[in-house]
Amino acid sequence: PDTINLGIFGGGTVGGGIVEILTQKSSYFRQLTGKTIRVRKVCVRDASKPRDFTLPEGCSIVTSYDDILDDDDIDIAVEVMGGTTDAKDVVFTALSKGKSVVTANKALIAKDLPEIEKLLTTLDTDDTQFRYEAAVCGGIPIIRSMQSDFVGDDIKLMSGIINGCTNFMLTAMDRDKKSYDEALDQASKLGYAEADPTLDVGGFDARSKLKILMRLAYGMDVEEDEISCRGITELTKMDFEYAKMLGGTIKLLGVAEKNDDGHVSAFVSPCYVTNDDPLSSVNGATNAIEVVSKNLVSSIYIGQGAGRYPTANSCINDIVALAKGDKTKLPFNPKSDTKFANNYSSVFF
Ligand code: NAP
Ligand code: HSE
Repeated sequence: PDTINLGIFGGGTVGGGIVEILTQKSSYFRQLTGKTIRVRKVCVRDASKPRDFTLPEGCSIVTSYDDILDDDDIDIAVEVMGGTTDAKDVVFTALSKGKSVVTANKALIAKDLPEIEKLLTTLDTDDTQFRYEAAVCGGIPIIRSMQSDFVGDDIKLMSGIINGCTNFMLTAMDRDKKSYDEALDQASKLGYAEADPTLDVGGFDARSKLKILMRLAYGMDVEEDEISCRGITELTKMDFEYAKMLGGTIKLLGVAEKNDDGHVSAFVSPCYVTNDDPLSSVNGATNAIEVVSKNLVSSIYIGQGAGRYPTANSCINDIVALAKGDKTKLPFNPKSDTKFANNYSSVFF
């Protein structure tokens, strides 16, 4: 068919951005892919809520998942509503019905990765694809890099700032002297926080992303709650004062490291970072992740980790790739028998 029809679950920060970019770039995408990409339906919770984006012609707001799932004309289901219950039903049903899925939902992927993978292996066609570039580090194309650029390499360490909301908050608290509550309020208004911001400030969102990266880098399926996790809720002004006195600042880091014995350890925690460390000057909703590996030595990825357009941009890349007919056989890379050994329980700041 020369038209690709989309059903989007979620018309909030990310969903609205996807609709906007698809509308603005529709003729370019047609030239690029040879297909017209149309948003047919956007599923939301409350149809009466005013939207900050314009619905394209021929697109309707719906409130029932089945309006998209039962519509045989919809080729791609874009899941940007969040959560791990209804979102799971939606994603699994869409895939089972032969629709490709594009999602930004790291909580769902991290929780149900083995089940998603199992379902994908039972699908008897490569036409049904699962893509999730936006799920880790927002606008940074880290999933694509992990799926392709390191195939001949051995990753030793992944370390960095992988949550935009908390990095925005830490910057606001340290540099702009905002209180914790002011900083969180501002991050939420800017669309950086999760619907439940506990996921951000508790470090859990970063942990979900780290788990996904660990699968891509080491082929392992570690349970999320095995990864030591501490958020930023206990940080006070004094911590920033002490960090400054020592010549540094505080960043929430996610770190996974393969030790010499082949075991992997991982943690999420606020860490003291010296002023000469490049991470110390990564501010606002920017994310940065260093990948240390045998062949490439050190690769640093830096870019916007949260927010409407950076995140929608990654979803758009997935949608356009699908429209072009790209087929990724193994969305999570092959599994290995790498063992998890958490030696990091005592490193906390
Ligand atoms: P959001 O602004 O809260 O939008 C969520 C949208 O989903 C809303 O339109 C909401 O409808 C709809 N929705 C939620 N629950 C629903 C339900 N049960 N049934 C129907 N519709 C439902 O969230 P967001 O920031 O766009 O995030 C969406 C997803 O992207 C999440 O998985 C998040 O982790 C991920 N993500 C977000 C960012 C970011 O920077 N925001 C970055 C990367 C990944 P109403 O509008 O009617 O309430
Ligand atoms: N709440 C998440 C963050 C959104 O701040 O990083 C992007 O994944």
